[in-house]
Amino acid sequence: METSRRTVLAAAAAAGLTAVAATPGTAHAKEGAKPVKELFGTLADGTKVHRWTLANGGTRMKVLSYGGIVQSLEIPDRHGRYANVSLGFDTLDAYAASSPYFGALIGRYGNRIGGSRFTLDGREYQLSVNDGPNSLHGGAAGFDKRVWDVEPFSGPRGVGLVLRYVSADGEMGYPGRLDTTVTYTLGGNGDWRIDYAATTDRPTVVNLTSHTYFNLAGEGGGDILGHELRLPASRYTPTDATLIPTGELAKVTGTPFDFRHGKPIGRDIRTAHPQLVLAKGFDHNWVLDKGITRAPQYAATLRDPVSGRTMRMATTEPGMQFYSGNFLDGTLHGPSGRTYRQGDGLCLETQHFPDSPNRPDFPSTVLRPGETYRSATVHSFSAR
Ligand code: BGC
Repeated sequence: METSRRTVLAAAAAAGLTAVAATPGTAHAKEGAKPVKELFGTLADGTKVHRWTLANGGTRMKVLSYGGIVQSLEIPDRHGRYANVSLGFDTLDAYAASSPYFGALIGRYGNRIGGSRFTLDGREYQLSVNDGPNSLHGGAAGFDKRVWDVEPFSGPRGVGLVLRYVSADGEMGYPGRLDTTVTYTLGGNGDWRIDYAATTDRPTVVNLTSHTYFNLAGEGGGDILGHELRLPASRYTPTDATLIPTGELAKVTGTPFDFRHGKPIGRDIRTAHPQLVLAKGFDHNWVLDKGITRAPQYAATLRDPVSGRTMRMATTEPGMQFYSGNFLDGTLHGPSGRTYRQGDGLCLETQHFPDSPNRPDFPSTVLRPGETYRSATVHSFSAR
């Protein structure tokens, strides 16, 4: 039986637990109030980066203007105890020096484009090469490394931030000036919703996503192999050795990729399936059975049986990249002071399929002048 958010929060308040801050000494926004802004750091070129603190419906979040990074996402366990369930860093320097996209907004194209090039309307475009022969997450300086304009809001639909970034024509090799708006909203029930919108002045390709690494036991709380994951997807896109889809939509039936009924992530992760061997774990795009939808529809459930923290996701997107943190190698550490090793966090990236610009058979990622790219993903939290 699922304990309602209100019941957990009421129990927590009675036990005096809601006042406990996961990161002491930092600004805390009041529930439902306008997000609070503070200076987070200064980039090498002198640009100031701010941090916004939001709280609503029992969910607390800290967001940076740099990369739109979710630096902290705090939710309660079944006893009302809060933990930051997202991997990240304490300082701007750490994010700017080397981050595997912790918490960041990803654009202009989330995931990989094979050979770092694509052809559109008969013209070939050479993209920034940053992952072997491929272009990953928008290239060497994607949207995750840009400073966004941020406007806070609070109102009937919740509290949140409107983030805006204008990507110049030709940036990272992509054609067209892309005007991008991403809205983070914390609803009255604690849901975290992301709305993406973009327009262009020349034909281009777009695939925006969010790269939060989740660990529902809490950042630094060990690996995610015991987390249970459910993905309503009967097929996935197998890849070559550089993680570019082969083009096949393979059935998950009878393979480690079958998460349709939910199972612990660690159950099959060490199976010698060739796809798991080459990706060093799960790092694949699942083809969501629901397909592209106008409104967000059910796309995943992630649950930590120890704390009871549960996250349900819904999206308008046709694909979900589930990445089991395979390339975390113990060289980085988070606010807890603990190092991040393989499998210490996982990403669930709602998206169009990888390498779509080179795959006419995949749902199209082309955006033309006069059209508006739209995508939405909702994360709902509970504890049971
Ligand atoms: C990709 C991984 C990649 C990681 C970078 C994920 O979205 O699927 O292959 O290594 O991002 O941290």
